[in-house]
Amino acid sequence: MKILIKGGRVIDPADNLDKIVDILIENRKIKALDTDIAINENVEIIDGRGKVICPGFIDLHVHLRDPGLTYKETLATGTLAAAGGGFTSIACMPNTIPVLDNPELIENFMNRVQKEAYVNVYPIGAITLESEGRALTDFYSLKEAGVVALSDDGRVVQNAELMYRALLRSKDLGLPISQHAEDMYLSSGTVINDGDIAFRMGVKGDPDVSESIIVARDILLAARTGGHIHIGHISTAEAARLVRQAKEQGIRVTAEVTPHHLILTEEDVLKVGSNGKMRPPLRTKKDVEALREALRDGTIDCIATDHAPHSLEEKEVNLTNAANGIVGLETGVGLVLTHLVDKDIITLNEAIRAWTIRPAEIFGLKNKGRLAIGYDADITILDLEKEWVVDSNQFYSKGKNTPFNGWQLKGKAVLTMVGGKIVWMGEDWKKGGISDGILN
Ligand code: DOR
Repeated sequence: MKILIKGGRVIDPADNLDKIVDILIENRKIKALDTDIAINENVEIIDGRGKVICPGFIDLHVHLRDPGLTYKETLATGTLAAAGGGFTSIACMPNTIPVLDNPELIENFMNRVQKEAYVNVYPIGAITLESEGRALTDFYSLKEAGVVALSDDGRVVQNAELMYRALLRSKDLGLPISQHAEDMYLSSGTVINDGDIAFRMGVKGDPDVSESIIVARDILLAARTGGHIHIGHISTAEAARLVRQAKEQGIRVTAEVTPHHLILTEEDVLKVGSNGKMRPPLRTKKDVEALREALRDGTIDCIATDHAPHSLEEKEVNLTNAANGIVGLETGVGLVLTHLVDKDIITLNEAIRAWTIRPAEIFGLKNKGRLAIGYDADITILDLEKEWVVDSNQFYSKGKNTPFNGWQLKGKAVLTMVGGKIVWMGEDWKKGGISDGILN
């Protein structure tokens, strides 16, 4: 089956392309991009007029909770949430039960991905066995099994000698290490950002220097070893400054930022309570400004959601006891379009770059992140004019833990295609009568 996306505004930052062109898809790949590709009866048409056609969006930081924590999310619900939010590829964190720390677990997981997932799923393996920070996992066999990066996520490797060896191996194998940058001692028992709000609420505050210390340490280790350190969900002005400086020195460091750290501050915790609690915490206005600037100037490479679903019971308790994290797959695109692109904080091109070619390059995802001929036909179609209201009851995700419920947004992913198959599309399009490859 051939598919022709006709008349859309195609934006592919990897190719500096922003133009009305048609895209022909054949055998799950991009076959041609051209103005006015001829229609014939063997081709299914997607009317792209008035829409923005992009390479499929990639999220490098997702918690799928499967195996072991399926009351929070499953492979099916998490990847459907990704499809609904406009993501065609996600990288998932290993903090499941059991921790994804050996090749057998990765292989089992990938077998299930083949059957159960709606989008491409790339596993991230653990840096240390059971993420306990004691002994390194077997990076080589994890890579053979399919991991694209390594991380102990929230259980940050505190031992610098272990991180040194991890980065040395990372260099040899070409596997980035995705770091949740937090000094476990400084951050122990902390609830929200350290400052006035934490003081007023009577909870222990998390100092921004906790992030800076690990970012600085890992940059030094990356410089020494030549390994690639990827800073997950960067949240502070100081950490952004350290990454900028390291990049200027040619050190192999990359960074991601979440939509919530770009939009909310610690003051929002007063309004949304535990749905404003995550690690790293929401910071100050000054940090938000610095993160925006860092995204603009390329210090921060990509946007990732840190989709972290939890049950209502785990969130609807007092702030100190509430679980850390919020869902993000179904709100990320709309939030960035509304609060950053529409407000001229970043350009549309910069936002798309941060969701496509940059994440594909960082985790080395082959044939992803651009619309070049021969690349996988992973496509996200945006409707920039679509006005909608976030309603967590409508989420495909099992997690309803969002601080953005009720927010009025403008701009949305309306069709998601993975390998030439439409895996999700919005109601407006369904009415248009596209029939092939709909969720089954
Ligand atoms: O808030 C968070 N929740 N931050 C993390 O890094 C981990 C995540 C989770 O697993 O719930």
